[in-house]
Amino acid sequence: MERLEEYHSYILGAISLATLLVSYYFLRSDPEAGVPYNVEPPAQAQPGWKGEVLEEPSLKISGSSVIQCYSPATGELLGRVNPSTANSIDRAIAKAKEAQVQWAKTTFSERRRVLKTMLKFILENQEIIARVSCLDSGKTMVDASLGEILVTAEKLKWTIDHGEAALKPEKRPTNFLMMYKTNEVIWQPLGVVAACVSWNYPFHNLISPVIASIFAGNAIIVKGSESTAWSSSFFSSIVTSALSACGHSPNIVQSVNCWPNVAEHLTSHTDIAHITFIGSRPVAHHVCASAAKALTPVCVELGGKDPAIILDDLSNSDFKRVTSILMRGTFQSAGQNCIGLERVIALPMVYDRLIAHLTPLISTLRPGAILHASPATPIDIGASISSANFANLESLIQDAVKEGARLLVGGKQYHNPDFPKGHYFQPTLIVDVTPSMRIAQTELFAPVFLLMRAETVDDAILIANSTSFALGAGVYGSSTRDLEKVVREVNAGMVAVNDFAVTYMVQLPFGGTKGSGYGRFAGKEGLRGVCNQKAITRDRWPGVKTSIPGPMDLPLKGAGAAQRAYGMAQGVVWLGYGDLRGKVRGLKGIMGL
Ligand SMILES: *[C@@H]1O[C@H](CO)[C@@H](O)[C@H](O)[C@H]1NC(C)=O
Repeated sequence: MERLEEYHSYILGAISLATLLVSYYFLRSDPEAGVPYNVEPPAQAQPGWKGEVLEEPSLKISGSSVIQCYSPATGELLGRVNPSTANSIDRAIAKAKEAQVQWAKTTFSERRRVLKTMLKFILENQEIIARVSCLDSGKTMVDASLGEILVTAEKLKWTIDHGEAALKPEKRPTNFLMMYKTNEVIWQPLGVVAACVSWNYPFHNLISPVIASIFAGNAIIVKGSESTAWSSSFFSSIVTSALSACGHSPNIVQSVNCWPNVAEHLTSHTDIAHITFIGSRPVAHHVCASAAKALTPVCVELGGKDPAIILDDLSNSDFKRVTSILMRGTFQSAGQNCIGLERVIALPMVYDRLIAHLTPLISTLRPGAILHASPATPIDIGASISSANFANLESLIQDAVKEGARLLVGGKQYHNPDFPKGHYFQPTLIVDVTPSMRIAQTELFAPVFLLMRAETVDDAILIANSTSFALGAGVYGSSTRDLEKVVREVNAGMVAVNDFAVTYMVQLPFGGTKGSGYGRFAGKEGLRGVCNQKAITRDRWPGVKTSIPGPMDLPLKGAGAAQRAYGMAQGVVWLGYGDLRGKVRGLKGIMGL
């Protein structure tokens, strides 16, 4: 008996020792492991919350400067936010600037720990983050999960895994004349940067520029849209609390909300080193003009009129898969997605089949407020951020119909009987659209499936190229030759083959050309974009240094000196860049022969 007990305690001892060793190993193996922290979630996002439904939902209240935040899906008041003033923006920038000095000295390992801490929080709090996003933007939980949380988790993970490598100093080649040099580029923080972001992804768009900027060692002032000002304090405190939990100053991240006239104070501020702008073209003109006052560079991410080109060699099994992707690509976030599908361009053999398949699907889509709907009536798509664009949408659709397009489903504002104060547009299917129609040239940002017919692959590329935008594009089919032809020839910043928007899911550089903007965020290019790319050359061998030859040394000495100096300079050019005979000629010139 005694021996048995002894044996027992021996086993227990061994188990506890093993547990200790294992936990020591795991703790030791990741000194950057995320630390737990809390952020008080807004009461409005708790299940069962009901708010006062505004008689006339609007952001502005007459006679007041506060931002009135409401849920676009229901018209419920979420809260009132005091907008920043020019003075409070100055104070935010000053605080960020001061805190950045310490932050710039942190190691990548310390920065990764902050990102891992955020990732842990986001994974464990997906539900509440999605609910806050749904309330403020009107989207559905699935749209929030895919468009806000999945992509933010990917961005965090990419930066944790690959950020340091992207900013690692790089050796650069040298040349014949400069053979005694070694060359290098290093990436250093810029200081305080800013991001002015759009409302369609209130979580992701706010957090994404923060991740890149702070990882690069910057402080950042992030200005969300006034349309989603309510959620920005919760979302930004997810970052600032992670910083505090890891022992850093939360001041390197400042969130501001303001009206457009005050935003100008931020975008023209001389203490801002770089601006990321995500928004519309008309606003970009103002932001860039304002930034030009301080000559601040802007990374400009505008909308698109993204085409999905459907080749007619889709297999039967692929047809179903592709149409499901097209539905999601078009109706995700009720079409309010800068890389949402704005045009489906189909070849003749698949064209009518698409119409037959999609018409019943689109006519059964149910728009509504996901957090208020009963589980018995599923909601397929969410609300629009406002009803301001609905009259314009209706007129674009009616004009297209007058010019020969067929409106098969929807086409009008939707007065949702369950949510009469919400902003809804009917899920719409419009076909036989041609490039000359206004609707084919205008970014709709709405739940509109727009179908265009192309006769050949070349014709499809021509149509795809025919707008003033060039952001993303997709091509679907079997023939590698045709797929690759589209990939090479379509004018776009990003192309997904047989898929939708996945370039972002692997953190490739995000951005477009033409009227879709310039510059890239995400990936290596995005990270480097918020850095000072410092170019350095050093001498390779001790004692071998550049020295100015006597005949070129200022002031030139003696009669004919200018001619001699020029002959020598010309010789240097021949020596460096001529062929063998040229080099001989160069040597002669240098020696004054
Ligand atoms: C489409 O645009 C790209 C980029 O400008 C160009 O190289 C290509 O030739 C264009 N193709 C057609 C058919 O317009």
